[in-house]
Amino acid sequence: MNRKITLKTNNDIYSIYIEPNSIIKNLNRVISANKKIVFLIDKKVFFIFKKIKNYKKLNYILINCSEKIKSFDNYATVSEKVLSFNIDRDTNIIAIGGGTLGDLSGFIASTILRGVNLTLFPTTLLSQVDSSIGGKNGINSKSGKNLIGTFYQPKSVFIDPEVLSSLTKREILSGYAEIIKHALINDKKFFNWLDKNSKSIINLDNKYLSEAIYKSILIKKKYVLSDEKEKLKSIHSRAILNFGHTFGHALESFYKYSTKLTHGEAICIGMIIAGTLSYKLKYLSLKDLEKIKIHFKSNKLPLYDNKIYDNKIFQIIEKDKKNSNGKINFVLLQSIGSSFLSKNLSLKKIKRILK
Ligand SMILES: NC(=O)c1ccc[n+]([C@@H]2O[C@H](COP(=O)([O-])OP(=O)(O)OC[C@H]3O[C@@H](n4cnc5c(N)ncnc54)[C@H](O)[C@@H]3O)[C@@H](O)[C@H]2O)c1
Ligand SMILES: [Zn+2]
Repeated sequence: MNRKITLKTNNDIYSIYIEPNSIIKNLNRVISANKKIVFLIDKKVFFIFKKIKNYKKLNYILINCSEKIKSFDNYATVSEKVLSFNIDRDTNIIAIGGGTLGDLSGFIASTILRGVNLTLFPTTLLSQVDSSIGGKNGINSKSGKNLIGTFYQPKSVFIDPEVLSSLTKREILSGYAEIIKHALINDKKFFNWLDKNSKSIINLDNKYLSEAIYKSILIKKKYVLSDEKEKLKSIHSRAILNFGHTFGHALESFYKYSTKLTHGEAICIGMIIAGTLSYKLKYLSLKDLEKIKIHFKSNKLPLYDNKIYDNKIFQIIEKDKKNSNGKINFVLLQSIGSSFLSKNLSLKKIKRILK
């Protein structure tokens, strides 16, 4: 079933389309609707792009994608290449790839010529359920992950769940981690549905997969709309979407964004830490914590990493941009499907409780 979600922020309005088997049709549609396009394409999905008639005549840049592409150097290299196509303000940058390509492309589109159009064709589960929605982009710095970036909404997002069939199981699970995150923070019914149907989703059964993508996007949309620029003013701040990410991002940074951990694996470990902290602070019941752990185990999602309590991890967290006045902004659970942003936990206290 085809679905359309419209996202209206203060200054932008755009649509997200979920349509199985649609990527070529939608690529052709944007090609005929735009005078100037520069495609940024993940090498792993170039085989899809090659199905477009006369693709060789189009402006495109192939990128070998991983977390490493979200760097200053690469931002400069790719931006120069984009500029070499003599672009103007009406140019549409079209990204076909996963979350790393989307984050890089969004940052380039928002800064090059002070902003050109951006269209996303997310091709990983993670990017379809999470990173292509809401307009955050960015690159990494030595001081931490995503520390340089902007808020910049795309013109459209085209999701084709069929393109996920070439992903590895590991990458599918990485995306599933963000789906379960959305359920844990906001929707108990969705969690129970996932508990029943996770195997079908992970095996890419279209009916369940499309539904999971749709539900996930609706939850993300709600938080994005209530606090587009993460000002932390509303109790539904989009900061809640960072559940599991405080420790998750620190782990990724600790491992220098290597393939040791995918983003999803890192935040799984982070979600278990956040759940444990929620339990130890007497917000979350032991029953719910156990339920979460069982779900993770039965879907082969990681629960632990032996470096998670390393002092360096705590040092990285201290530098996190989401903290203020020496306190850590930490997302905690009250129950499965209900979460809140705690603004007054000190790192010392977190350390003491966890250790
Ligand atoms: N901007 C946001 O709001 C937001 C939200 C969540 C995550 N993120 C970011 O997203 C990134 C992770 O995204 P990701 O998991 O998509 O990583 P990724 O882009 O590195 O993709 C994972 C791997 O899959 C490959 N790939 C992509 N599409 C494929 C396909 N259809 N078939 C086979 N292989 C394919 C890629 O080449 C890569 O090797 C992280 O940098 C994270 O910080 C951003
Ligand atoms: Zn994430």
